[in-house]
Amino acid sequence: MTESAGSPSFVAGGAELPFNPADGAFQADPFPAYGRLRDQFPVLRGPLGAFLVSRYEDCELLLRDRRMGKDFANSKFFQQIMGEAGDNPPPFLGLGLDDWDAKLFMLTDPPEHTRLRGLVSQAFTPAMIKDLRVSVAATVEELLGELPERFDLMERLATPMPIRVLGTMLGIPAEEQAQFTRWSVEIAGLLDLDVALPPEVAEARRTAVAACTSYFLKLAEERADGDGQDLVSQLVRARDQGSMLTTQEIAATCVLLVVAAQETFSNLLGNAAVVFARQPKAFTRLAEQPETTDATLDEVMRLEPPAHQVGRIALERMELHGHVIEPGDAVILLVASANRDERVFPEPDTLDIERKGPNHLSFGRGIHYCLGAPLATMMAEEALRGLTARITSLALAEETVAYKPGMGLRGPARLPVMVRKRVS
Ligand code: HEM
Repeated sequence: MTESAGSPSFVAGGAELPFNPADGAFQADPFPAYGRLRDQFPVLRGPLGAFLVSRYEDCELLLRDRRMGKDFANSKFFQQIMGEAGDNPPPFLGLGLDDWDAKLFMLTDPPEHTRLRGLVSQAFTPAMIKDLRVSVAATVEELLGELPERFDLMERLATPMPIRVLGTMLGIPAEEQAQFTRWSVEIAGLLDLDVALPPEVAEARRTAVAACTSYFLKLAEERADGDGQDLVSQLVRARDQGSMLTTQEIAATCVLLVVAAQETFSNLLGNAAVVFARQPKAFTRLAEQPETTDATLDEVMRLEPPAHQVGRIALERMELHGHVIEPGDAVILLVASANRDERVFPEPDTLDIERKGPNHLSFGRGIHYCLGAPLATMMAEEALRGLTARITSLALAEETVAYKPGMGLRGPARLPVMVRKRVS
């Protein structure tokens, strides 16, 4: 990295590529920078030594490549970051936390990953998702209520919705859900690997994870010997029936679900609303032809993915576009860039619900493919159903969208909208 005009830019192949994740222009629209990466530097050694990969074909293959692991904690990359962070390590995905002796299974490799994911998958079967739909629809009704003509869509729906749904899945009593919503916003920050995190922000995240973990440890104890159908009760039964599952792992898994669902889903809804505000015909079509919802959601997810990157740690030496990647190196797959790769998607910046061809990478691929994808899709369908039942169009109430900071996840920090209400 060098300094140019006061802002960092990468040096790649002897040429400078202006690309500063903290820059306002990049935050407002990162896609032109991704396009330059795909054309000129399909693999680029970025800040902190991680390799950025930007083309669809490479991202897709590497997501499924078993020479790529996820055990960040034991990687040379992560040790180096922790070294640089000194006294204020970012509480990235629960790593670097005191008193934490279970890993989030998203960050494990087989066989540990297979065991833990297998146990949790029972809560995400199509039948379970179908059963949850009614309560998700009721949550949407309650949150949207009688809509005013102007409101903040993040505050009203996108932020509270995921934790409310997870609360139901995990069996969290209604009166305890408010504190949960507060924790979840802090905990969602665990996906953010920021070495320059202000100490008070890092501390707030650590405190929230500790509180939430103790809460789940207690809940797991209370659910012992019960016959509840919620996920915590199911995991406790699995533990007691000899599934080699510890109470710490149960708590860590519940925290993981909050981390994995909160920001991703709220970004999905926020990003979808921005697309619909800018392309009102797409929203009208959704209301008039609800059968196009799935195809529309797929396109919104391709164009504006809630998570722009997915990380891996190389387990073996490999070469890619002339770069040598050594074991322990971090590889960042820029799925948001891959989704707009013109080598794969004709007119990649256009929303086209008739599009044929390969799927987007927004839910990942391979053994870590998003466990919550069917749930997230069902939740988004219900949220859109709630909106189209109430309004005929929505417009942005502010000229520019204020995005949340960071390069890993992307979604509006707030989204004031003005809506035209449906006359019933
Ligand atoms: C629109 C919303 C969502 C998006 C875009 C999203 C995206 C992703 C992606 C890209 C991965 C793969 C990570 C990797 O390969 O390293 C992932 C994994 C995961 N997601 Fe989601 N996610 C969403 C919602 C949810 C929800 C609602 C839940 C659960 C309630 C969830 C639970 C998980 C879990 C547990 C994993 C880890 C899977 C594993 O490592 O085996 N996600 N998600």
